[in-house]
Formats: sequence, C-alpha cells, structure tokens
Amino acid sequence: MPAWSLATACEEETSQLGRCLGRLIEQPLVILLSGDLGAGKTCFSRGLARGLGVPEEEPIASPSYTLMNAYQGRLELYHFDLYRLAEPDDLLELGMEEYLPGAGVAVVEWADLFTGLAREYLAVHLSHQQADQRRIECRAVGAAAQILLQRWQGEWLRQAGGDD
Ligand SMILES: Nc1ncnc2c1ncn2[C@@H]1O[C@H](COP(=O)(O)OP(=O)(O)OP(=O)(O)O)[C@@H](O)[C@H]1O
Ligand SMILES: [Mg+2]
Repeated sequence: MPAWSLATACEEETSQLGRCLGRLIEQPLVILLSGDLGAGKTCFSRGLARGLGVPEEEPIASPSYTLMNAYQGRLELYHFDLYRLAEPDDLLELGMEEYLPGAGVAVVEWADLFTGLAREYLAVHLSHQQADQRRIECRAVGAAAQILLQRWQGEWLRQAGGDD
C-alpha cells in the first residue's frame, strides 16, 4: 500500500500541505484524518479547502460541534468531525453514507473512531513531535487515491525544491 511520511514545522506548513493536495483534486474523494487533539486536522482541512477553491474570505470553522460543514469550491467539500459521535448509528443519522463517497470531497476528522467508513480513501495521520513539529503519515487505498498520493508527494517535493 503506497505510503508517505513527512514532518511539518508549523501550522502554516500543515495548512500548505492541505492546500497542495486540494489543488490536485479533480474528482470526488474521501480523506480520513486521524491524530490527537490539537494535532492539526482542522488546520490541514482549512488548507485543503483553499486548494479546492473555497474563497479565502470564507471562514473554515472546526466542525466539532456542528459535526459537518459544507463548502463550495471547484467541488463541494464536506468537512466532518466524528469526535462527539458515540455509535455507528450516529453516522446513519448524520447521513454519512451519502458522502463517503459522494459527489464531492469528504474530509473526516477523527475518522479512526469508526471502522469501514469508505472502501477507497486517502488516510492522513497527524501526530505531535517536539514543539510545533508534526509527523504526517499518508497512505492511499484504491487506484485513484494512490495516483493522487503520488502526485501530491511529487508536487510537495517539487515546491520544497523551490523550482515553482
Ligand atoms: N506543525 C503544525 N501543524 C498544525 N498545527 C500546529 C503545528 N504546530 C502547531 N500547531 C498548532 O496546533 C493546533 C492544531 O489545531 P487543530 O484545531 O488544527 O487540531 P485538530 O487536530 O483539528 O484538533 P481537534 O482534535 O481538537 O479537532 C493549532 O493551535 C496550531 O496553531
Ligand atoms: Mg479539529
């Protein structure tokens, strides 16, 4: 299973990583995010939204209380947070099966609290290292997600090389 692991040094870099992915997305996709409180899942999602074309002036709030926020970019973006859900039945109530996959891009914080959310997906796990550094581990399941992961990694490394 293709995988990629990297570190970011600050909030802005994690957001940029999300933005880099968002720019490359051309078709519906499920992104499963995991990692502790404050690991940077919302920060990553915010960048993703910008890369997908959600206007800069539109605030991207954490969906911890609303459970899901929807945005219009080049594709629709559904931003979920499952932290407050207790049981699999809650997912049905939230209508999640409509979005994973759906007509747009679903990005799901705390996706690891539930199993079998999607058959094909990009999984991104964020964890605290020292201070503001975060370890970010990405893996892809399914052909489309695997191709996207490769393009994302290539684009990120190219940008880091400074030749953009
Ligand atoms: N490298 C980094 N990447 C992302 N966030 C960072 C980084 N370094 C520091 N931070 C800080 O960590 C916090 C990340 O918050 P964020 O809301 O994105 O986390 P989260 O994983 O969504 O948390 P929650 O589980 O509560 O939803 C922010 O306060 C941000 O400024
Ligand atoms: Mg969050």
